[in-house]
Amino acid sequence: MDNNDKKTMLSGIQPSGDLHLGNYLGAVKNWAALADEFNCYYFMADLHSLTVRQDPKELRRRSVTQLAQYIACGLDPEKNTLFIQSHVHEHAELGWILNCYTMFGELSRMTQFKDKCAKNADNINGGLFTYPSLMAADILLYQPDYVPVGEDQKQHCELTRDVAIRFNNIYGETFKVPEPYIPKVGARIMSLGTPTSKMSKSDPQGCVFIMDKPEDIARKFRRAVTDSDTERCVHYDPQNKPGVSNLMSIYSSVTGKTFEQIEREFDGQGYGAFKPAVGDAVIEAMRPIREEAERMIADKAYLKDVYTEGARRASHVAAKTLRRVYKKVGLVEKPF
Ligand code: TRP
Repeated sequence: MDNNDKKTMLSGIQPSGDLHLGNYLGAVKNWAALADEFNCYYFMADLHSLTVRQDPKELRRRSVTQLAQYIACGLDPEKNTLFIQSHVHEHAELGWILNCYTMFGELSRMTQFKDKCAKNADNINGGLFTYPSLMAADILLYQPDYVPVGEDQKQHCELTRDVAIRFNNIYGETFKVPEPYIPKVGARIMSLGTPTSKMSKSDPQGCVFIMDKPEDIARKFRRAVTDSDTERCVHYDPQNKPGVSNLMSIYSSVTGKTFEQIEREFDGQGYGAFKPAVGDAVIEAMRPIREEAERMIADKAYLKDVYTEGARRASHVAAKTLRRVYKKVGLVEKPF
């Protein structure tokens, strides 16, 4: 149960692909370090995944394997509440209510909506449009102080705050107005193929999945795009050398070495030696995570126990918030 002396954090990732190095180094690894300081809720955002057509079997499989990957990345289920979004029906219910307090104009301005429309021109459904109201519900149900998210989700967090403030102004204090939380440490990992864009599962060559086999990781790093400068030295300069700077961020995150140490280590060696060295370091860092995740994926009963307990804990908090909201907006109390 929540410890009231601690602040609350909440975040989610859509199970529409396996976790990759960007999810791990940019998000989940940092989440793991927050467990003692905060009450933490993390979920698989399976309802959000439905905004893009999914293979039902695959979605079901990935929702559970993502949980195994969360745990293998260090999210201890004893210390964090880990659950599957659709198991806590309050998300969909508060999502509907908040739809009625989110403006058409606000939703139209969301850059992720515009991007997804461009990518899914044959399936621009209502869910894609109202996605931010469901995300606001995900967040506000748990009254969190902070929402750890990447740059790309900041606009949705801003909208969540606006909706919470609007609701509170009409009905009195109901929702805590959360702040986005940008971790002190944590790298923004870019694609190995196009180092000016974020690592993404939709670009498999530039994306290293935490479940990738060592030989696949090695190949992806050997082929990583570096920069066309002539000096070819390992030097951190994200403006002019985005490729090598991204590799340095990755190497630094997995080894704990500073950029200066890395520059010294590869002084005079060029990119040819650096790329496989980063690959090797990532292989070693991912090996125990992959093995642990594989072990858990084989243990369906254990994972089921974890998500059952997670949903139970999450529902308790979510139901309390939803009851207050239903009452405030004028719905008749359910008699049973
Ligand atoms: N929209 C987020 C993403 O695509 C996932 C998400 C859904 C989320 N609900 C959330 C993140 C609530 C933080 C809080 O990455």
